[in-house]
Amino acid sequence: MNRSFDILGRSPGIQRLRELAQKVASTDVTVLITGETGSGKEVLARFIHEHSRRASKSFIPVNCGAIPSGILESELFGHEKGAFTGAIQARKGYFESADKGTIFLDEIGETPLETQVKLLRVIETGEFQRVGASETIATDTRIVAATNRNLHQAVAEGNFREDLYYRMHSVELQIPPLRERGGDILLLAEHFIHGFERKHGIAFEGFSPEATELLLRYPWPGNVRELRNLVESLLILERGKEVTPDILERHLVQRSRHKSLVHDPAKAENNELSLIYGSLIQLRQEMAEIRQMLQQLLLSNRLQSPPLLLPEPQAPPAESTPPPADIAKAAEPTLPLEEIERRSIAATLQKFGGNKRKTAQALDINERTLYRKIKEFGL
Ligand SMILES: Nc1ncnc2c1ncn2[C@@H]1O[C@H](COP(=O)(O)OP(=O)(O)OP(=O)(O)O)[C@@H](O)[C@H]1O
Ligand SMILES: [Mg+2]
Repeated sequence: MNRSFDILGRSPGIQRLRELAQKVASTDVTVLITGETGSGKEVLARFIHEHSRRASKSFIPVNCGAIPSGILESELFGHEKGAFTGAIQARKGYFESADKGTIFLDEIGETPLETQVKLLRVIETGEFQRVGASETIATDTRIVAATNRNLHQAVAEGNFREDLYYRMHSVELQIPPLRERGGDILLLAEHFIHGFERKHGIAFEGFSPEATELLLRYPWPGNVRELRNLVESLLILERGKEVTPDILERHLVQRSRHKSLVHDPAKAENNELSLIYGSLIQLRQEMAEIRQMLQQLLLSNRLQSPPLLLPEPQAPPAESTPPPADIAKAAEPTLPLEEIERRSIAATLQKFGGNKRKTAQALDINERTLYRKIKEFGL
């Protein structure tokens, strides 16, 4: 069997799915695969085909959402010469080409209603007619379909036939989103890293422990595809160097921004989610920067005028005041490190009326170190 059609994953959800897929593979039952975008619907469909008695025959994927509705029917069932303008010769459709094999109807929810009637017939009787033909052709094709749309809702809205919906639902395999199979994230990342290292000839130094944590916490709105693409762009753009949380966050933010520019109604919800997560990550970065600036500012105030923590009132700016300098730069202490330490301890001691426990807590050092420093600096 071609190993690239394996469904990788050790999480209980994927293990159960693999077992179910193996069971249904040995039958000819129509299978509907559901799951969010990028979760591996096509991978699962190929896995079913590869584990069936049809493995040596064709597997034909058809994206029902990408083929214009006027053409889809003749693509699926073929047409006779002269069936419509431009049909200069007869042509076989996918159901004839896939005979004895498997046809994968991706995005089945996008199929126009007229074509749905013909699909129902071929599922029920194994027969169909080419467009413009009167004779019936028998086919022995296994149908696996997939959707990331809520078909039940499509039925309620009158966009999907109820009878076809029930036929499709005889066996439904639901792929859990990647965020619900935490155990698989690192396994998949490693798998993709090895593949891309070989493909691009770049050695990857790996993720830092903090970046690994972030990989596990991130909700992956684009699922396995997002992880795969992220790993590839990290490897290429960062030339394989160790990935820190900063690098990882930067790439996640950029990807979410890029995705939000591509408008695809079927994926709009996931893109929106991705954009929100991207913004949250960015917000977190900005807050960390502000916190750092404030800390520097407070420290410098504490050093320059102990124990006053607030800036002294300033004279009103002259008319030709230059633009304010970068706060962080202006606050940069120019004193020797030891002197900074001494002044900082003195100021904090004064602030807490000589209370050593509170001073040690405020400076985030232990009390014993504080006693040693007091002695050392003769405070
Ligand atoms: N379990 C898995 N093991 C290995 N690779 C996987 C797995 N699941 C998904 N992938 C990879 O992730 C990518 C997306 O998978 P796939 O095309 O099957 O998703 P999909 O659910 O069909 O997405 P869409 O809804 O957008 O069509 C592919 O590159 C595929 O190889
Ligand atoms: Mg797909």
